[in-house]
Amino acid sequence: MSETLERWTTRRAFILAVTGAAVGLGNIWRFPYITGENGGAAFLLLYIAFVLLLGLPVMMAEIMVGRAGRRSPVASLGHLAAEVGASRHWRLLGLFGAFTVFCILSFYSVVSGWSIEFLVTSINGGFVGASAAEIGAGFDAFLADPGRMTFNHTLFLAMTMLVVAAGVAKGLERLNNLLMPLLYLLLLLLAGYAATTEGFGPALAWLFMPDFSAVTPLVVMHAMGHAFFTLAVGACALMAYGAYMPDRQSLPRAAGAVAVLDVSVALLAGIAIFSVVFAQGMDPGEGPGLMFVTLPVAFAQLPWGALWLSVFFLLLLLATWTSSINLAEPMVATLQGLGLARGPAAALVGLAVWLVGLLSVLSFSTLAEWRPLFGMNAFELVSTIPPEIFLPLGGLLIAIFAAWVMSEEAARRALGVTPGAFAVWRGLVRWVAIPLTLVVLVAGLF
Ligand code: PFF
Ligand code: NA
Repeated sequence: MSETLERWTTRRAFILAVTGAAVGLGNIWRFPYITGENGGAAFLLLYIAFVLLLGLPVMMAEIMVGRAGRRSPVASLGHLAAEVGASRHWRLLGLFGAFTVFCILSFYSVVSGWSIEFLVTSINGGFVGASAAEIGAGFDAFLADPGRMTFNHTLFLAMTMLVVAAGVAKGLERLNNLLMPLLYLLLLLLAGYAATTEGFGPALAWLFMPDFSAVTPLVVMHAMGHAFFTLAVGACALMAYGAYMPDRQSLPRAAGAVAVLDVSVALLAGIAIFSVVFAQGMDPGEGPGLMFVTLPVAFAQLPWGALWLSVFFLLLLLATWTSSINLAEPMVATLQGLGLARGPAAALVGLAVWLVGLLSVLSFSTLAEWRPLFGMNAFELVSTIPPEIFLPLGGLLIAIFAAWVMSEEAARRALGVTPGAFAVWRGLVRWVAIPLTLVVLVAGLF
């Protein structure tokens, strides 16, 4: 591993890469369904509180460690630990992160494949004039077909690993940046349309009038996990990107901008989706199919609906593509650190993720009732445990490393803030983020 890696050419490029990692399925697919499963407004409030109190300070910690180490996550952690005479075992945190993203990418690729299927159906006019029930039935038939699911999963993962192998992610990030405003506009348009339907009032009430009586420690843990997941924090994936961050860029400002953007995309998607849910008398707790059934219904009501829907799925695909490239990076960087060339490393990671992803594919048909742990099937396990337990655990360890282990001088320099601001950040990490994460994890699990 070289001493100093190549830098992103501009400050913009860094923000683009981090935004690309953050905005994805977490905002448009996972946020609405998990909010639906956990009762709405109280969950939403908890999630926003966690983004501010945990997500943001730990995101800064994670990027800061990468920028201070200027190596792959494993090598950065080992190097910075050695600098202060701490245990070299901190390197294992990098491996844990690689394991976490491995699990996440295995289902992320499968669900992104659903977007490919829906994009094709939409282009073919398959949703024109279809009712909510028909669209739901079509989706169920697709889920029950392992062949089609596998085809889309394979296609998406190949797209991802090709970009990773070729190292052309920056080009894609730029394309992403060019087109993300359009995704944002489309969501705005949808939310605006939602405001004219009778589902809008109930949706707003449901999203913004909290009822805390349904909040259990488990609900709190779900909200915390989602805050980490949506910001891409806790798996050393942003640490890998931090290694390329220019020296003079403001880290807090970049992290803050990404968090605001990420939360607002989720809110727009939530407003659009829940308006349809209430207008159509659907169940907010419908689960992973929620977005895939409601959005075609919503677009079908609009003039040029099929066109907009196709554009929407295309943009969603682009957003998930840049997120999955970020998911793959820590694994490929780790293998490179072991001496493998980038191409073979990407191929190896791709193959392993593809195989494990098949378990998620089959969880909707053959293996639906195979529940090896906690009564969950394979898809439920990988889409729940890594985001809700591994990411907070990884974030916790990253926070401890950044605020207690690393040299204060190196941390402050890499964070690039005044001594006063540094004290505020470190106080927040030491006395709020770390204890809060611990308490929520322990209360949720036991
Ligand atoms: N933040 C991504 C999303 O919201 O879709 C998911 C993600 C990317 C999680 C990268 C974790 C990660 F390391
Ligand atoms: Na996100």
